[in-house]
Amino acid sequence: MRKKIVAGNWKMNLKFEEALQLAIDLNGWIADNQPEAEVIIAPSSIYLPTLLENVDEQFLKISAQDLSAHEKGAYTGDISAEQLDSIGLDFSLIGHSERRTYQHEDAEVLEQKMKQAFAHQIYPIFCFGENLEQRENNTHFEVVESQLLDVLAKQDKELLNKLILAYEPVWAIGTGKTASPEQAQEMHVYVREVLDKNFGAEIANSTPILYGGSVNAENAENLFSQNDIDGGLVGSASLQLDQFTQIIMAAQ
Ligand code: 13P
Repeated sequence: MRKKIVAGNWKMNLKFEEALQLAIDLNGWIADNQPEAEVIIAPSSIYLPTLLENVDEQFLKISAQDLSAHEKGAYTGDISAEQLDSIGLDFSLIGHSERRTYQHEDAEVLEQKMKQAFAHQIYPIFCFGENLEQRENNTHFEVVESQLLDVLAKQDKELLNKLILAYEPVWAIGTGKTASPEQAQEMHVYVREVLDKNFGAEIANSTPILYGGSVNAENAENLFSQNDIDGGLVGSASLQLDQFTQIIMAAQ
């Protein structure tokens, strides 16, 4: 049985006091309610050290939203995997569609980012997914397959058991337009087939695959009840304690 994971991607939201309060409240709620799902939040990187100090990682885990493709050196503004590891961080999103779009991150950069994460004991939460045009042209399966293989096939196979995947169809992110549970399940099954063919049954069966894109308190249960959906990567609904906790409870 794969563990359920519910991750909140806070993106570029919340001022410091708001972020700290939300993390403390969420940590307290998890301690009191002991949900089955593992809960991770990804706040802005400037808040990471304070949040790590103010939550108990037994209840609430903290992730970065991104890390550098480079090991160290003259890369102004970048934060390396080694630096994240040095503050005790264990997770990072990699390849979120907003970074692919606005920072033009391509497969080559993402391959390096994942190598950096693995080299410094950071679990990558690797995001992928087709855009609307690709879905309408019926190329979504091949797009997803190459997004996965372009990056994963270049990694040390021994480390792939640390991978977390997040299928986030771009047309469902921030649009209020969720993939139906059937559409998401169909893609997650396909992803497991790709993993099976390329990396073997053990990786295919054990890798958590989260769904992301307009997950909310109303649709979470239907999505998470699908066999191959192991939880969610939640954007805007993770900024509200009552919404996010309902989503966490839906992942049983
Ligand atoms: P929304 O839940 O706001 O659609 O965002 C999804 C997302 O991009 C999570 O990484």
